[in-house]
Amino acid sequence: MRTPSLLVTRSCKAIHRLQQSAFASPVSAVYRHQTISVLRNSSTISCKDDRSYYITTPIFYVNASPHLGHLYSAVIADCLHRYKLLQGFNSKFATGTDEHGLKIQQAAEAAGKDPLTFCTDVSERFKHLFNRCNISYTDYIRTTEQRHHQAVKHFWSVLWNKGLIYKGSYEGWYSTQDESFLTALQVGDAVDSSGNEIKVSLESGHKVEWMKEENYMFRLSAFRSQLLDWLKGNPRAIQPEIFYQVVLKWLQEDLPDLSVSRQRSRLQWGIPVPGDAEQTIYVWLDALVNYLTVAGYPDIHNQSWNVAHHIVGKDILKFHAVYWPAFLLGAGLPLPQTIYVHSHWTVGGKKMSKSLGNVVDPLERSKQFTTDGMRYFLLRQGVPDSDSDYTDDKAFKLLNAELADSLGGLLNRCTAPALNPAQVYTAFCPQSFPSEQGGRAVGEDYHMLEAVKNLPAVVEQHYESMHVYKALEAISACVRQTNGFVQRHAPWKLERSDITDQRWLDTIIHVSLECLRIYGTLLQPVVPEISDKLLSRLGVQPGERGLADVNFLPKIRGMDCPFEGRVLGSDTGVLFTRLENLDRDKQNPKKTKKAKK
Ligand code: MSP
Repeated sequence: MRTPSLLVTRSCKAIHRLQQSAFASPVSAVYRHQTISVLRNSSTISCKDDRSYYITTPIFYVNASPHLGHLYSAVIADCLHRYKLLQGFNSKFATGTDEHGLKIQQAAEAAGKDPLTFCTDVSERFKHLFNRCNISYTDYIRTTEQRHHQAVKHFWSVLWNKGLIYKGSYEGWYSTQDESFLTALQVGDAVDSSGNEIKVSLESGHKVEWMKEENYMFRLSAFRSQLLDWLKGNPRAIQPEIFYQVVLKWLQEDLPDLSVSRQRSRLQWGIPVPGDAEQTIYVWLDALVNYLTVAGYPDIHNQSWNVAHHIVGKDILKFHAVYWPAFLLGAGLPLPQTIYVHSHWTVGGKKMSKSLGNVVDPLERSKQFTTDGMRYFLLRQGVPDSDSDYTDDKAFKLLNAELADSLGGLLNRCTAPALNPAQVYTAFCPQSFPSEQGGRAVGEDYHMLEAVKNLPAVVEQHYESMHVYKALEAISACVRQTNGFVQRHAPWKLERSDITDQRWLDTIIHVSLECLRIYGTLLQPVVPEISDKLLSRLGVQPGERGLADVNFLPKIRGMDCPFEGRVLGSDTGVLFTRLENLDRDKQNPKKTKKAKK
């Protein structure tokens, strides 16, 4: 487990390295001076150990309703936020909606609504989805809010006053769907649905248009070596590693200055450039500042800002790992601690998107699979390093196998009145299960104990690097081992009237309940409702569910177990009800009938 003090030491070392390299970078004297003061600033602030943590999702475009891919970004962030709370951190978690820009302006026009009403409608849909899926954000930001306008204008003025923004002109390709400027190398030929030849972004496939405009430019080119220094000094700043390498490669290529405004005549739906009513601030600069707005910028913001971690999809990596750090360096602010990148959900091998018409409705699916079912599926099947293809069938199979049969079955066995008539956390008998092999336990049982004892550390390491699927894989493997343990010793065959059999039976149940307590505790960030139900059934109180409370099977080490002898919780309901795959059942009625028997 990475302790906060380790984190602090690490960031101090990184800052030190960065301070040293900043002196060596070939940036002009003005920028060098700025960088050094930023780094000095960050070093004094970052070295504080206050157990604060700040995690963000990208803010979501409101041009269309939320889909499964959006929920995925939010579930990952929610999982990390909940995990940090379990570790005892004071964690802040922001999400919200990105409401300005040409794309939204055009969507509102097409819907025949005034932009703010349009944005409010869609923003509420995101909020509704997140509330329904237990996304426990502590702040929901909309870029149309007054606090955000103030933050963006202030941020702009800081860059302007430092000479980092200048009036220029942009001539090149622009993708409205991606709200992104592209070079000729990033553009290719395609044919639209009406057979017209068009130009598209090679990365996103979205249509691009040629534009030529007077606007404001940001001196992005001046920050290249500082960005490289930052990354080289912080090899874990972008995770997983493959995306870190992608960014390093971008920084070795040409990094032209960036247009940061659009002519007001074309884009009215946005924040005007301070002091120039003819120009609107570029939507990405506007949107990225949301992370600062939530932190309280321009007023008190250091507490959260020094410990910021961003979750982003791979399609928006450049904005977060190149433009955003450059803006922050320019504004004299510390850089984010980590940028966690995830890949995409595809359907039939294609990225889910409204324009392709292959979106999966997360609200509908979370009704079908339950909220926790949906969360579990996304985090268990979603691999950050590569895309995952979505099918309903995969979800049915996975949830039935792992949540209903394996985990739910284990709880059911250990709490069923037939095996546990007193409905208590049964006693552990050290003679039946001694710490060294002997008694009635066999070698495989000791292997299982070893695996469960190590599980919290394994899981924490995977949560920490956003490999949630690996954490769930490890938990699932342990649940299988515990089911194997129960199966192997078949407690239902033991003779209750024989005192040694009775003690062994209670021990088997005790060990299994201890395993379940660890699984329930570790699963809280992923499936909060199921974990709550599980832990409540075991009689584990809310104050006993932190990562510091795990202390697995103390009795085998001759220590007291606070749970032993407690009456189990009264909710005897099924942990996760098996799902019926209606579509498949319709297609395959015979198979279903057989399966039900
Ligand atoms: N508004 C910008 C972000 C600004 S943050 C300062 C944006 N919005 S978005 O709505 O298009 O995307 C939000 C998030 O959803 C991104 O992380 C994106 O990667 C994610 N997803 C959108 N489609 C997705 C999939 N098909 N699969 C997984 N996530 C994807 O970009």
